[in-house]
Amino acid sequence: MTRLDLDRLKRQAALKAVEYVRDGMVVGLGTGSTAKHVITGLGERVRAGLKIRGVPTSHETADLARQAGIPLLDTDNAWIIDVAIDGADQVDPQLNLVKGGGGALLKEKIVAASARQFIVVVDHTKQVPHLGNSFPLPIEVIPFGWGSTARQLEAIGNS
Ligand code: A5P
Repeated sequence: MTRLDLDRLKRQAALKAVEYVRDGMVVGLGTGSTAKHVITGLGERVRAGLKIRGVPTSHETADLARQAGIPLLDTDNAWIIDVAIDGADQVDPQLNLVKGGGGALLKEKIVAASARQFIVVVDHTKQVPHLGNSFPLPIEVIPFGWGSTARQLEAIGNS
């Protein structure tokens, strides 16, 4: 399968997820190449009259959403997100996920945790029998307390 074929599949799956979005919803907008298709798909619906507001999980996503014409909520808001739509790096048969390969793990988790419904869009290459075997587990460390976090991570690495 070529990169182009894979991208077509991502777009197909993303557009299916976009169908779940209804007028008036607050939508969590994920990050990555699959989420990009979600954002362009939502942008098309917004141009056709759909009224939504988005909560972006990265600067890249915020830029894409603005270009697509999707109004964004202030990131300081205490949002109630109706649906968050995002990609994933891996998914196992129990629907456990590896996420964050695109570098937006923390914001993605905060947005997903604030969402009533979380839709994960994956193509078949993301489906694995066991998580982690073929993809390194992303970890995001924030500046606050990073030394303590590093020590704990080292301890896990040595165990
Ligand atoms: C971003 O941090 C990630 O969680 C992405 O959702 C994940 O890496 C999937 O990205 P692609 O859709 O680009 O494969």
